[in-house]
Amino acid sequence: MDKAKKKIKASGKCSSRPVVANECIEVTDDQIVSEVSVILSALEVPKPPPPPKPLDLFNKAKPLAKAIIPFQPYSYSHQRFDDGYLQPSGSTKEERYPKIYDSAKQLKPKAKRVLSFGCSTGEEIFALAKRFPNAEQFVGVDIDHNRIETARRSNKQKNIYFHDTLGGLGKFDVVTALNVFFCLEKPTPKDQWKKTLEEVANYVAPGGVLMIFKSDHDPAEALNDFKAENTWNHTHNRNNKEYFCGYYRKKRKFW
Ligand SMILES: C[S@@+](CC[C@H](N)C(=O)[O-])C[C@H]1O[C@@H](n2cnc3c(N)ncnc32)[C@H](O)[C@@H]1O
Repeated sequence: MDKAKKKIKASGKCSSRPVVANECIEVTDDQIVSEVSVILSALEVPKPPPPPKPLDLFNKAKPLAKAIIPFQPYSYSHQRFDDGYLQPSGSTKEERYPKIYDSAKQLKPKAKRVLSFGCSTGEEIFALAKRFPNAEQFVGVDIDHNRIETARRSNKQKNIYFHDTLGGLGKFDVVTALNVFFCLEKPTPKDQWKKTLEEVANYVAPGGVLMIFKSDHDPAEALNDFKAENTWNHTHNRNNKEYFCGYYRKKRKFW
């Protein structure tokens, strides 16, 4: 069947030839379809790209500490305990801080060297090693040699090492100090705390990340050459003290 021809009042804009206003012209269905689609595509407004997702470093719905582990008070002492360890750390376990370990991976996905300062019996470094399968080296350091011996016995991986001193270990892309800066000595004198923090900070490579969970004083105050990646305060009622935590990225220009 012949295509129906229709008479329409030309708008002037969609016709392929110039037309006089109010002139009647003949057009086919195909012409109408193609001209309408030209108009529609011209009207289409491109959608803006979706905003980038922010790094979910912390569980924003809940305070970090609650999201990770409910606070369980224990008594602190420098005495040697029955098990021979210098400090109580019965709750040290491999997946104690999954959110922090995952954040380490997000912040430094290609980290080659990872250090756990105050690694205790090594669980923390084992958990981090799982998140960085392509890293070259993991080192756990703890002042308590007994803990280091236990960590070495539990270690099954050739690229994981344990030491009782920082020594000349070189620079690391990720350094964790979890539950360490709040228990150096009680009460933690600020100068001793600062000295230890600065020493540990020396082991962070340019562009590397230092992750601190719980500190008697505010690390952001002491680390002038560090840009706070994200900081938070966690207050709990133990000794009415405020404990500081944070992730810090070392600026490259200082090296
Ligand atoms: C409470 S434990 C935390 C262990 C582990 N990071 C965790 O969160 O499960 C603190 C550890 O830090 C170690 N530590 C304290 N002062 C230290 C220092 N100056 N150098 C190295 N390790 C230290 C202690 O021996 C202890 O094993």
